[in-house]
Amino acid sequence: MIKIFVCFFLSISIFAEEGTLKIGAVFPMTGPIATFGQESVNGIKLALEKINAKGIKGKKIELIVEDNKGEAIDSANATRKLIEIDNVLAILGSVASSNTLASAPVAQSKKVPLVTPASTNEKVTTMGDYISRVCFTDNFQGKVMAKFARNTLKAERAALLIDNSSDYSKGLAEVFQREFIALGGKIVGGDDLVYQQRDVEFRTLLRKIKRANPQVVFVPGYYSEVGPILNQARQVGIDIPFLGGDGWDSPNLQELAGAGVKNTFISSHFAPDDKDTMVQNFVKLYKERYEEEPGAMAALGYDSIILMADALGRVKDPTNREELKNAINSTKDLLGVTGRISIDENRNAVKSAVVLEYLPGGRHFKEKISP
Ligand code: PHE
Repeated sequence: MIKIFVCFFLSISIFAEEGTLKIGAVFPMTGPIATFGQESVNGIKLALEKINAKGIKGKKIELIVEDNKGEAIDSANATRKLIEIDNVLAILGSVASSNTLASAPVAQSKKVPLVTPASTNEKVTTMGDYISRVCFTDNFQGKVMAKFARNTLKAERAALLIDNSSDYSKGLAEVFQREFIALGGKIVGGDDLVYQQRDVEFRTLLRKIKRANPQVVFVPGYYSEVGPILNQARQVGIDIPFLGGDGWDSPNLQELAGAGVKNTFISSHFAPDDKDTMVQNFVKLYKERYEEEPGAMAALGYDSIILMADALGRVKDPTNREELKNAINSTKDLLGVTGRISIDENRNAVKSAVVLEYLPGGRHFKEKISP
């Protein structure tokens, strides 16, 4: 009796393996950065409707999503599970750079292609030739915001408030600081203006910033802490502009920040009010399906599976991971909703960034900056 059951079970899983192209996904579906995972998977699923309606060499993509809760340990474990148990062809993920930095060595050692839609820290793609990304890196993003602070806002003094539990935050702060100083600016307030993910009380740090008298504050963090930071900053009487990067780009930021969102600017990958037709078609489709405006992660998730499907379509044998890795890494001029995607020799995408301003009602496109 038991034997019959086992046979039946095995035959079903073998059938599933032959019939579909299995792609794993490691995203924060719960925890402090959960909107990043939810938007990513929404974007991926939207693109999959089109991809699977057409099929790739007569097969459909089967997506297997694992929740990493925004944690490095869970990211490594989820990656191992997708490779060893599900036998996926490739993996999409994750969002937070510290999470992808934990997944990448696992994928690289097992020679399974991993494409991150969103992790911008420089180190991510240095982990090996199986690791690539569809987004720009923090070297570019940090320079964009330093120039914006110095040249557009004409600030001479900037303070930095850093999440020192995040590789993304530390790396982005470093680039901003270097570039801002190179442009003739000065960093004030000292280098102990740091917090950790899940902190909720920032007023002591903010009062210290106020005493240093900067003209702008750069906060390269995630929305879960940035929201309360903005809110409390205005409470302690700091009215100057706050600047950040893509980590603010969440549908929850405004609610968390309250009135604190006024006079803030970020760099990101995508602007929902960009006039580009491809962007507008995507925004319309996404809103119809999910009743919410898509943010950067929705757009990057969408583009990551488009890139994967394009690579799968160009290989002779889609189950050959080495061939798939080479196809991913030779992607050229692929049209995505976040721009034209070409993977360079370091497996990074060279793409433009947008600067957004938060105004009542949402994020607003201010300018597009090319590399
Ligand atoms: N770039 C961020 C990181 O590397 C992740 C992120 C990308 C968050 C896009 C939101 C939108 O950690």
